[in-house]
Amino acid sequence: MSEAIRSFVAVSISEGARRQIADLLGRLRREPGAVIRWVRLELMHLTLAFLGEVSHEFLESVKPRLAGVAQQHRGFTMQLKGLGAFPSPARARVVWVGTEQGRDDVCALQGDVVKALCSVGYQSERRPFSPHLTLGRLRMPGDVSKAVAAQFASESFTIDRVVLFRSALGPAGPAYSVLAEFPLLSQPGQRP
Ligand code: 2AM
Repeated sequence: MSEAIRSFVAVSISEGARRQIADLLGRLRREPGAVIRWVRLELMHLTLAFLGEVSHEFLESVKPRLAGVAQQHRGFTMQLKGLGAFPSPARARVVWVGTEQGRDDVCALQGDVVKALCSVGYQSERRPFSPHLTLGRLRMPGDVSKAVAAQFASESFTIDRVVLFRSALGPAGPAYSVLAEFPLLSQPGQRP
């Protein structure tokens, strides 16, 4: 059997939004409180589907499906806004930033990505999709109510592709590499 490849499908954020998140993390790090392991900035993305450990053959079957989905969706504008925590701010395991503009678009895109993946044998999560970008994780549930009260709104940026990432786990944390990119249709008024 071929080597298992840990992978996920996501959309990336703009460099401007990444810089704005860096500022936000600078503010949050100064706050005393629960111990949060912040995600490295360069790894931040918005996950559409986590595939887990899959075979090379499975990934090859997934690629044309994702390309097909991408060609049924237009690029769209996204703004990240507001902080929250899963499962709740009082007993948080994950601290995230949510979406404002582009929320319906990303939900529609995610729904079609999952449908396409299911057609080649993917088992989708039972939880409803809640678009978010993970900022940090807690080993033990902790109270992050103060952190999530921070104000945050990113610049607006364009989502113009779906990305299939590989995640290689190592002692220094995960390293992501792009396995394939699937361009969305041009936004109205944009040159192809
Ligand atoms: P998250 O941002 O909601 O934590 C790569 O690991 C990405 O896949 C993460 O950003 C994570 O989303 C998502 N993911 C979803 N389910 C996962 C799981 N069971 N294990 C690891 N990552 C998962």
